[in-house]
Amino acid sequence: MTDIQTIRSTLANLRSDGETRLGGVADLETLAEVERSILGKRSALAGLGAALKDLAGSERAEAGQALQQTRQALSDFARQVRDELDRRDAERRLVEERLDLSEIACGSRRPPLAASSRSAGHLHLVTQTRDELEETFISMGFDVVEGPEVETDWYNFEALNMPPDHPARGMWDTLYLRLGSPETVLLRTHTSPVQVRLMSKGDLPIYSVMPGRCYRRDTPDARHLPVFHQIEGLVVDEGITFGDMAGVIEVFTEAFFGEGMHSRLRPSFFPFTEPSAEFEVTCPICAGAGCRTCSGSGWIELGGCGMVDPNVFTATGIDPERYSGFAFGFGIDRLAQVRTSLADMRALLDNDVRFLSQF
Ligand code: DAH
Repeated sequence: MTDIQTIRSTLANLRSDGETRLGGVADLETLAEVERSILGKRSALAGLGAALKDLAGSERAEAGQALQQTRQALSDFARQVRDELDRRDAERRLVEERLDLSEIACGSRRPPLAASSRSAGHLHLVTQTRDELEETFISMGFDVVEGPEVETDWYNFEALNMPPDHPARGMWDTLYLRLGSPETVLLRTHTSPVQVRLMSKGDLPIYSVMPGRCYRRDTPDARHLPVFHQIEGLVVDEGITFGDMAGVIEVFTEAFFGEGMHSRLRPSFFPFTEPSAEFEVTCPICAGAGCRTCSGSGWIELGGCGMVDPNVFTATGIDPERYSGFAFGFGIDRLAQVRTSLADMRALLDNDVRFLSQF
């Protein structure tokens, strides 16, 4: 037999006992166990609930309410304990899993990972040379234009005053693509077709340089690469003279190679210029004194140049009576080779970091 009084005191004991047990729990796993034993199906509280049916109606309702309050109080208490344990757990993980970035700079066991122990790499010598050339020409008022590496025969040859079967085509060993009619689509053999594209657009005047990759059916050796780079220059305006060309080349030579370095022209032939010339610059290795690189002459041949042939103007829709202009072109890899006294150009393709890191 049971009565309401006994039930009240039992509930009070269960509550204080339960709170004591819950309050002593140190981890979430134990908390779950203790909670189950206090509030679960086989707990004393549940047993007491089963005993209520023996009470008289009014007492039963009162006891039931008291039991429900005790159950609620204990589960509230358990939730507080769980919240506290959760908080401590998160705090501990935060400390344990924190990335100690200061270790990189001041760790005592391992040597510091100083920035200098990892090389970030740098641009390839040829790219550096190309960038420097662009900078120099930009500082002289030129803009930089690029064109496609796959060209048609018309841009690479015909518009440059070399009709089909023109003997001068032999100056360039050409790689043709199997596209369209035979020998109509090719890998450009020089950057001169970009001149044609620029002139065909008809935005005059033109003061542009055109750097880019070129291809020739050549076997690589110390001075030739089948894939190489050129930079082309083109000026088209009214009243442009051969003197302007010589002046621009001279200004470029001093700006790029440094004070005291000069240029000179020797007569030559290119189908797209008339007259044409080769231009030479003071040997950058011996500054003109004569060395092995310049075969003792003090001069290095850099590229070709000349006054734009009227036939090229006509092919591209420019009136040769009104406009005149000059063009020049030279090899960027070749220039990099000369400037660094590189015996064999093939080193530029090897990608050996021991070689490349020197520049
Ligand atoms: N395209 C020539 C070559 O590949 C170089 C050249 C010569 C470019 C004379 C020019 C020029 O623009 O006027 O050998």
